[in-house]
Amino acid sequence: KTLLVTAATLLPVSGYAQTVGFSQIGSESGWRAAETAVTKEDAKQEGITLKFADAQQKQENQIKALRGFIAQGVDAIFLAPVVATGWDEVLGEAKDADIPVILLDRKVDAPDDLYMTAVTSDTVHEGKVAGEWLKDAVDGKPCNIVELQGTTGASVTIDRKKGFADAIDGASNLKIIRSQTGDFTRAQGKIVMESFLKAEDGGKDICALYAHNDDMALGAIQAIKEAGLKPGKDIKIVSIDSVPDMHLAIAHGESNATVELTPDMAGPAFKALKAYWKDGTMPPKWIQTKSTLYTQDSDNMAAYDRKKDLGY
Ligand code: AHR
Repeated sequence: KTLLVTAATLLPVSGYAQTVGFSQIGSESGWRAAETAVTKEDAKQEGITLKFADAQQKQENQIKALRGFIAQGVDAIFLAPVVATGWDEVLGEAKDADIPVILLDRKVDAPDDLYMTAVTSDTVHEGKVAGEWLKDAVDGKPCNIVELQGTTGASVTIDRKKGFADAIDGASNLKIIRSQTGDFTRAQGKIVMESFLKAEDGGKDICALYAHNDDMALGAIQAIKEAGLKPGKDIKIVSIDSVPDMHLAIAHGESNATVELTPDMAGPAFKALKAYWKDGTMPPKWIQTKSTLYTQDSDNMAAYDRKKDLGY
């Protein structure tokens, strides 16, 4: 089955107040808060009414929110899925109600006719970029790596782990010695890093940290400092998101690199929806956003300024 374009779903772009329901994961990270703010602002600019539901990191809350949006007869749904599996039934219900669903920033393990498009970065590539950066930075020297993973079962966690592992595969000097979830939060990043440091002789045997997001890396930086080590020097750090606090940490030499993830997933999503509403144009199944690496040598503070302008 493909998403059916019926007369009822083709609505004039002007003169009709479209409503979009947005099921957001929560507010676990600075990046997530920015995505929420940017989505609300984009909706305002587009003249679209946004119904916002914060799922507090729980898939069951997201499913409830989606069913609520369907019952209210919204014109479209944005879903940032906390985990990858378990969506078929509710997405099927949205499809039966002729309500297009657009995935934002994470993917689902479900047949692709159950959603209109996914606006995400190449999240395997993000992990690869981080791994390649570290491989170059250590230049053949032996390096024990600790990894802070994102939320268990999230597509980004699975992909970022894989991309990094692929990048260092075959580099016998690089070894991941510990890997645990920090659930994408600063607080958990700190707690888990403390346990890594304790387990590894106060951190003396740790050469690098790969964190699946900046917030966990920022929590880990605090733990490294409290352990009497210098983050960014004694322990190299690479992470993903490019939030303002991470750019400041890089500027202060306390972290080394971050891979940018734009918080503006809603912009391309609204654009796709408007084209669909106008004449039934279907977007591609994947709208890819860019990933840029920032390091101590690059355009780090300019990126910080751009992020501040975006309202982080
Ligand atoms: O899905 C995107 C990830 O979710 C971001 O990298 C992270 O900060 C957020 O919590």
